[in-house]
Amino acid sequence: MPITVLKVIIVYINAIGFCCCFRNDASLVGKTADIPAIAKYFSTKGRYEEVNPYLIDDILAVNRSILQPPSAQCRQIHLTAVIRHGTRYPTTKNVKKMQKLYDLVKSSAAGKDSWLREIQTQWTMWYTEDMDGRLVQKGVNDHKHLAVRLSKLFPSLISEEKLRGGFIKFITSSKHRCVNSTLSFKAGLTELWGITDQEFDHTVNDALMRFFDKCTKFVEEVENNSSALVEVDKFKQGPEMRRVQEKIADRLGVPYSLITDDMAEAAFYLCAYEFAINTVNSPWCRLFDEVDGQVMEYANDLKHYWKRAYGYDINSKSSCILFHDLFSRLDKAANDVRSDQQVTEAVTIQVGHAETLLPLLTLLGFFKDNDPLTSTNYASQTGRSFRTSDMLPYAANLVLVLYDCGGGDLRLQPLLNEKPVAFPGLTNKKDRMPLYQDVKDHYRELLRGCDFETVCQLFKHTAEV
Ligand SMILES: *[C@@H]1O[C@H](CO)[C@@H](O)[C@H](O)[C@H]1NC(C)=O
Ligand SMILES: *[C@@H]1O[C@H](CO)[C@@H](O)[C@H](O)[C@H]1NC(C)=O
Ligand SMILES: *[C@@H]1O[C@H](CO)[C@@H](O)[C@H](O)[C@H]1NC(C)=O
Ligand SMILES: *[C@@H]1O[C@H](CO)[C@@H](O)[C@H](O)[C@H]1NC(C)=O
Repeated sequence: MPITVLKVIIVYINAIGFCCCFRNDASLVGKTADIPAIAKYFSTKGRYEEVNPYLIDDILAVNRSILQPPSAQCRQIHLTAVIRHGTRYPTTKNVKKMQKLYDLVKSSAAGKDSWLREIQTQWTMWYTEDMDGRLVQKGVNDHKHLAVRLSKLFPSLISEEKLRGGFIKFITSSKHRCVNSTLSFKAGLTELWGITDQEFDHTVNDALMRFFDKCTKFVEEVENNSSALVEVDKFKQGPEMRRVQEKIADRLGVPYSLITDDMAEAAFYLCAYEFAINTVNSPWCRLFDEVDGQVMEYANDLKHYWKRAYGYDINSKSSCILFHDLFSRLDKAANDVRSDQQVTEAVTIQVGHAETLLPLLTLLGFFKDNDPLTSTNYASQTGRSFRTSDMLPYAANLVLVLYDCGGGDLRLQPLLNEKPVAFPGLTNKKDRMPLYQDVKDHYRELLRGCDFETVCQLFKHTAEV
């Protein structure tokens, strides 16, 4: 048999094996998983599948008709994706909190429910401090599957030819969970196409993907400033949270004084991690009803709002460097097309953190409600758009796709978590996919200013005069 025929057969078998393997995983999860009632309130500890439930039945499903370029001749010419790392273990700090709650439940809980007995006699505390936020197997799959779906959604850009030709660039934060997510994304593509004879580089770039660490003004005024999160502290001491803590204490059969807000948080994490990592609806979830889940979600939203989003101007401004980087790539691709050249960087895959995505989404104006989130307006914020559970599950992603519709008509389509979204405040008369030029006009001020060095320095020289 000629070698080439043999090769084709092997690739074909590989493709089938790959395909069936994922399908089995997905159908198993779809049928057997029993989803906690509070799973949609897990904030940044949530599963990506909760945001796109059709993936529970088929993790590789895409719907190409969600993309509606204004005419059939529009070509995809550039794609930039900013992606959060996949599902991970808890950090050392949170493992400590979880251990403390577990010890308390083992030694002191007097309730008689069977789920409580299960925690006390069957469940084992398997989280250890050395797990330190590392990527788990589910997180590897999050990125492999996302890579395959994006290649199905954008076949002319995320293609074997483009990958082999070096037109797809990978940039990551230095954190191990991000590097491993990047490797997983790449593996998703190389396994899909059966590529074994070539390897693909990635660049580590913390200035871009962990800008928040490098922005002195942000670190001093927000990150390192205990009074910056005063609204969060007040909410945690407020009536809604106190009620959640009392209900947990009642369910456990322990005195109210033993269940602090940290303990409530640890219980919420235990339910969330058991589900995100192992797809298990664990007995820990029985400590919450849906109302409790909503209160816990609000506490998390408040924290992200004040620490990474609209709470302080510097939170979003710290992402100026990433914002400019994005637009300079788009400009470069647009110029390549205008001068009839091949686009040299067709695809950029950038892997970072929830803390990378949220300031950028905020700078772009997404999920801005009329009223700020505060410790006292929980009730009036039930209809808010700022919901980290929807925005920032594991592997959350913002994708910008540039189209060339001929005759200099360039369009830019944003997608958040694989769903088309509209740039906030950009009124778009004719169709959903705006002209690239209109997007640039809309963000004119930021494109002119928003200089990372200037916005992040603590004392402006001009103020010293
Ligand atoms: C795909 O998306 C289109 C447009 O949003 C929608 O009308 C259609 O029902 C979707 N198809 C599937 C199978 O989900
Ligand atoms: C990352 O992957 C490498 C091998 O691919 C593995 O040895 C390492 O433990 C992983 N690290 C984390 C933090 O998951
Ligand atoms: C932040 O606080 C820590 C501990 O309080 C301190 O060591 C560190 O220097 C501070 N960083 C900045 C940039 O202020
Ligand atoms: C800390 O945050 C508070 C509240 O925003 C602010 O008034 C104060 O100036 C901040 N402190 C520093 C050192 O920036």
